[in-house]
Amino acid sequence: MRILGIETTCDETSVSVVENGTLVISNIVATSSDLHAKSGGIIPEQAARKQIEYIIPVLEKCLEETSKTLKLKFNQTKKRQISEILNSTIDAIAVAVGPGLIGSLLVGVETAKTIAFVTGKPIIPINHLVAHIYANWITESATSPYKTTNSHIHKPKGHSVPELPAIALVVSGGHTDLVYMKNHGKIEWIGGTKDDAAGEAFDKTARLLGLPYPGGVYLSKLADEYLSIPQNKHNKLNLFPRPMIESKNFDFSFSGLKTAVLRKIQDKDNKMTKSELAAQIQEAIVESLVYKTLKTIEKYKPKSLIIGGGVSANKRLREMFVNQISTSYPHVKFFAPIPKYSTDNAAPIAACAYFNYKPTQWKLINANSSLTIAGEK
Ligand code: KG4
Ligand code: ZN
Repeated sequence: MRILGIETTCDETSVSVVENGTLVISNIVATSSDLHAKSGGIIPEQAARKQIEYIIPVLEKCLEETSKTLKLKFNQTKKRQISEILNSTIDAIAVAVGPGLIGSLLVGVETAKTIAFVTGKPIIPINHLVAHIYANWITESATSPYKTTNSHIHKPKGHSVPELPAIALVVSGGHTDLVYMKNHGKIEWIGGTKDDAAGEAFDKTARLLGLPYPGGVYLSKLADEYLSIPQNKHNKLNLFPRPMIESKNFDFSFSGLKTAVLRKIQDKDNKMTKSELAAQIQEAIVESLVYKTLKTIEKYKPKSLIIGGGVSANKRLREMFVNQISTSYPHVKFFAPIPKYSTDNAAPIAACAYFNYKPTQWKLINANSSLTIAGEK
């Protein structure tokens, strides 16, 4: 089964075609992040306008790529080709309905509903945060049989997907959630941030360091530079607090970090370089995330531990999870997405729809900016 996914929750406009929830056939992402970089953060109105500008070209490009990957041959005019590809290769439409910025969300949701209305194909509404988890089912492996239309192969050869039950940590720019995933569609929220999200902590502290938007990306690059210098390896990275790390629940708190960083920057005696500060900040965020997430293992006894969302692209976060799990919990398998599928894109939307296949009447589908990972408003 091939699902066309659409994701327009924030400043990325993405359309993707995924086969059987795992194999990416085409994935196109346009972003207006350069525009927001100038203002140091997202301006929702501008993000929504860019979504409108990008959505049809991105859809068109995705379908063109799909026909190339599948080696389809059409003789019609370009315009007919697009509807032809859509009609002949796509089985269902999936769209991220929330959470996100309402103006941006509406563009993807209304586009998806229109496609479903015109083609009569099933449409599946998808929770953006749950979809981040499904980035871990995605592969680009060329070993899969692209030729077959009704392939019953659920995963390409050699591609290992998470076994359930699993614990998933979803870390994005606006959310930090820990969930127990008993099965597909059975997600129990077990903890999350009390204030700022992990991505927000990266972005806000990066701004204090004078780094551009999106801060997490630039801050982690600086931190990596610091950590790549051999003599820095032995320096202690415990300057900033790890609030709530010893609390008995599975919650996090990151809002204190920016105050601590601001104090350090304003301290006249501060001799730390920007890259050391970046490494210190990164370590505080990463250690809080890893420590709390691992605490869930004793209670929930998962087979897999999964991370997803923009912050899951972070190298140090992946490294710390791999090290800790291999030494303390070798029976648990750790999964992190191929990095480009960590951040917002439509492939996980399509993958999520395959494993949670609940077609809904297009009339009943609405954008919901404040949806939570467990589905409540
Ligand atoms: O999931 P995502 O692409 O969008 C939202 O749903 O928010 O996550 C974006 C967040 C931003 O806060 C960005 O700074 C952060 O993910 N991010 C990173 C890295 N790459 C993206 N944070 C730390 N290290 C990274 N390598
Ligand atoms: Zn996201």
